[in-house]
Amino acid sequence: MQIADRLTKIPPYLFMELRKKIAKAKADGVDVISLAIGDPVEPTPTSIIEELYRTACNPENHRYPTDEEKGMLAFRKEVAVWYKNRYGVTLDPENEILGLIGSKEGCHHFILARINPGDVVLMTDPGYPAYRASILMGGGIPYNVPIRPENGYLPVFEDIPSDVVKKARGMFLNYPNNPTGACVTRPFLDKLVAFAKANDIAVCYDNPYSEVVFAGQERLSFLSAPGAKEVGVELNSLSKPYNMTGWRLGMAVGSPELIAAISKVKENTDSGIFNAIQFAGIQALKNETPNIEKMMAIYTRRRERVLKTLDKIGIKFNPPKGTFYLWIPTPKGMGSLEFTNQLFEKTGVVVASGTAYGQYGEGFIRISLTVPDNRLEEAMARIEKAFA
Ligand SMILES: Cc1ncc(COP(=O)(O)O)c(C=O)c1O
Repeated sequence: MQIADRLTKIPPYLFMELRKKIAKAKADGVDVISLAIGDPVEPTPTSIIEELYRTACNPENHRYPTDEEKGMLAFRKEVAVWYKNRYGVTLDPENEILGLIGSKEGCHHFILARINPGDVVLMTDPGYPAYRASILMGGGIPYNVPIRPENGYLPVFEDIPSDVVKKARGMFLNYPNNPTGACVTRPFLDKLVAFAKANDIAVCYDNPYSEVVFAGQERLSFLSAPGAKEVGVELNSLSKPYNMTGWRLGMAVGSPELIAAISKVKENTDSGIFNAIQFAGIQALKNETPNIEKMMAIYTRRRERVLKTLDKIGIKFNPPKGTFYLWIPTPKGMGSLEFTNQLFEKTGVVVASGTAYGQYGEGFIRISLTVPDNRLEEAMARIEKAFA
């Protein structure tokens, strides 16, 4: 059976080897603890589930979704209110907001909406692996822009070769950043807008962790930078702030031209989001924002716990203030995969190797704080015992 070339270009999944080991260890009776995946374990707040149930009982909602290609106007209006309240950003629900089946979907549709075969698309390295896959599936050419600790894990636009910039038509950025946890400042966003404008590069600012920031860090939308709406879109999501990863609900906001183009892709791809999920989303955005503070208190506590263990085993660093990930330098002289494997063999604890996020992820591992407290405690106790 022929499989399309576009799929064979997508690099193999780097966790595969580890997965095999995990399966074997489990079969041998090892109590495996995974700190590798970013998926909140606390349940979705009850009022959101109740709103889903209430609206799912209405037969009107059993039909194709309202405003299929854009999302329900009521949902888009609530997104506009949320953006105003959370980031001071004004959005027109008619042409600057689009409902998405999660922000991951938006990454893919952004490429289909904007990129022609052979266009270069800039993406940060390390970075969320779905960007590369989306670029390749859309016929684009990914270009890795390194983000390094000495620059606060922010790209340095001046360092991108000018022939690459000339061919670039799009760029993926994501701050608060998966995997590094880095956050941006307003002056950086201004620079990004100027860079995009000067070079006709459409920005896809993937912002599903916009709410997941620790004390002292400002919550920022790309669209709070003057001129941002002219050069790009921001993707956001209810997955992380409202513990709704399984529900698949997000939004694209920003440039009306890009929103219309992405909407055209969606119109010809899916038939929208189940109305009841959108009603539940309205409930989340309207009434469940206190859940975010509750979750941040939990992540703060867990983060402190992990930092205590790292200190005990001699890994000292000053982590940035975003996301529920910790991007941790490996012990001196040890590669990411080597440390990941050693950690697993000695403790049964699974972490993500930095190299899963790109070549510049070498020398790091990523730990996710989305595990129950008792499992995290057990994982840290094992690590201390094995490495202290
Ligand atoms: C950077 C980044 N973008 C997008 C997503 C996907 O989020 P969603 O659940 O909204 O599709 C994730 C999920 O982990 C992510 O880390």
